[in-house]
Amino acid sequence: MRRFSPGRYSFGMILFVVLVIVVFNASNWYIYSKIRSYLIGQLGQRLANIASATAFGLNLEKVLKAREKTVAYEEIKNLLNNVKEDNQLVDIFILDLDYNNILNPPADSGSEVFLNLDLAAITQAMAGTKAYSHLYQVGDYFFESGFAPIYDSEGKVIAVLGVEAGADFFKVLSNFKKTIIGAFVLSLLGMILLAVLFWNITAHLRKMEHTVVRTSALQAMGEMVASICHEIRNPLGIIKGTAERLRSANQKNRDELLDFIPEEVDRLNDILTGYLEFASLEPKRKERLDITPLVTKIVEQLKGTFSKSQIQVLLNTEDDLPQVEVNPGGIRQIIINLLMNAKDAIQRSGVVNIRLKRQDRFVQLEIEDNGRGIRKKDLKQIFNPFFSTKSKGSGLGLYVVQKIVKEHQGAITVESKPGQGTKVVIKLPIGSTD
Ligand SMILES: Nc1ncnc2c1ncn2[C@@H]1O[C@H](COP(=O)(O)OP(=O)(O)OP(=O)(O)O)[C@@H](O)[C@H]1O
Ligand SMILES: [Mg+2]
Repeated sequence: MRRFSPGRYSFGMILFVVLVIVVFNASNWYIYSKIRSYLIGQLGQRLANIASATAFGLNLEKVLKAREKTVAYEEIKNLLNNVKEDNQLVDIFILDLDYNNILNPPADSGSEVFLNLDLAAITQAMAGTKAYSHLYQVGDYFFESGFAPIYDSEGKVIAVLGVEAGADFFKVLSNFKKTIIGAFVLSLLGMILLAVLFWNITAHLRKMEHTVVRTSALQAMGEMVASICHEIRNPLGIIKGTAERLRSANQKNRDELLDFIPEEVDRLNDILTGYLEFASLEPKRKERLDITPLVTKIVEQLKGTFSKSQIQVLLNTEDDLPQVEVNPGGIRQIIINLLMNAKDAIQRSGVVNIRLKRQDRFVQLEIEDNGRGIRKKDLKQIFNPFFSTKSKGSGLGLYVVQKIVKEHQGAITVESKPGQGTKVVIKLPIGSTD
């Protein structure tokens, strides 16, 4: 059977989402760079064409004389100013082959834009081909320039005409770029959030899957145990009955060995009862009663077993404890299991303290021993069914105890110090009438 694997599915999901985000961002970026280079090209072409057309109409003589700031200078300046206004240019200028601005020498122009000129494009124009610069930014503004050669009568390039225009729409494009980067950062954050979310969901699903598998395994085991116990109990009943009949038939030559049979059958029955408790899924019937006499009676019954092992059992109860709604059989089982654990932990002489007291809305039952204690790493597992550190332990004792406590809407905690002892605290809720 193929098992559902949440890890694999969520990993696939994350991969898909990451892919979508990457494709989305990459396509945004692609569109942006395409639009940008298209607009740069278009504007550059237009500027280069303006420069070329203006350069073509220039009178070479006047251009050369312009340096001398004569009438020719004014004429050229006027002509270029008209071109500037007609085409809404930021600047228009003529550079000689030494890159000097013929009409506006740097000393009196102070043009910052001039410093940003694209040398590669100017050199290309000097070589005889119109060209345009890359896009450049001064403060918040974007600019681009076009260049065209100015020829003499022999077809030799003697200067370069440059035109420069602002490009407001690049501001919009620049905002678009910021938006794309913002979207990328946001989606990156989203991706991280998503990964964390998926990780949590996966961990939760894994836990749930584990619980479901465990519960169904326990249920199956429980059913199996119940049916086996049931089948074993019948022949045990027959064995006990037969032994008792043999005993009464041999009243005269009484053989003590015959007494062992019913005793051992009873012990086997007790063990089976324990397993049946583990297997039982039905909550037991509860009744409202004073817990002190119930606990006292159970402890009295067990004291014999403990005195044999030189273990002192001390019971300390608070007066006037409120009644609790419990299943007496369940309480009995809790106490037996906890006392047996204490006994096993003490091995030889020691003390077990049992206390009954009121704590807020609970009656608290404490069982504390000064036995060997529980190692830290075992402490996490003691409630797991079949966890036992004992060679003959079934590992069901505390599992059953916890189950009964839960059936009583109570709580159980275990504190233990290796080498010093263990204290188990059980809280049973007091009914609303008390
Ligand atoms: N009072 C205690 N002192 C030291 N260790 C304890 C004590 N109570 C429980 N443990 C540890 O917890 C384990 C689980 O206890 P649990 O009662 O569930 O099973 P078990 O005693 O091993 O077997 P079973 O109760 O079925 O005979 C024990 O094997 C033991 O290691
Ligand atoms: Mg036990």
